[in-house]
Amino acid sequence: MKEPSNEPAIRLVMQPKFTNPDGDIFGGVILSMIDEAAAVEAQRQAHHRYVTVAMDSIQFHLPVHVGDIVSLWCRTVEVGRSSLKIHIDVLAHPRCSDDEKKVTEATVTMVAIDEQRRAVPVF
Ligand SMILES: CC(C)(COP(=O)(O)OP(=O)(O)OC[C@H]1O[C@@H](n2cnc3c(N)ncnc32)[C@H](O)[C@@H]1OP(=O)(O)O)[C@@H](O)C(=O)NCCC(=O)NCCS
Repeated sequence: MKEPSNEPAIRLVMQPKFTNPDGDIFGGVILSMIDEAAAVEAQRQAHHRYVTVAMDSIQFHLPVHVGDIVSLWCRTVEVGRSSLKIHIDVLAHPRCSDDEKKVTEATVTMVAIDEQRRAVPVF
């Protein structure tokens, strides 16, 4: 298993198209980014086709707003035979500020699969 990367898997500016009518970013947008970030981290660990089998313990700590720069930091916390458990911290900071805060965290399990969609060893 590789050590955690020293850069985020994803970094993105939150656009108005991601908001609810109150101007906050939809939780589902953050969940989608978490899923993508886990896929990036899984690929960094070992090259396979992966599927998401579980998203556990998702906690939304703080709201995210339009213009925030959101960074998703991943670390693989467990390696099974065909699965990787990946923890994702989502940090956000307003565009003109260094005041970065953890807004969401989650643990996602990705499974490596073959062309028949059968689970295969990661390593
Ligand atoms: C992932 C999938 C291939 C696993 O198939 P399966 O028949 O359960 O295969 P296995 O029993 O061999 O399990 C494979 C691994 O998944 C893990 N796993 C299965 N269900 C799990 C769950 N609910 N939570 C965490 N891990 C799970 C197993 O522990 C195993 O890990 P290991 O090999 O590291 O020990 C199958 O469940 C699947 O295709 N699911 C749909 C995934 C998908 O399409 N995701 C996107 C949804 S839009």
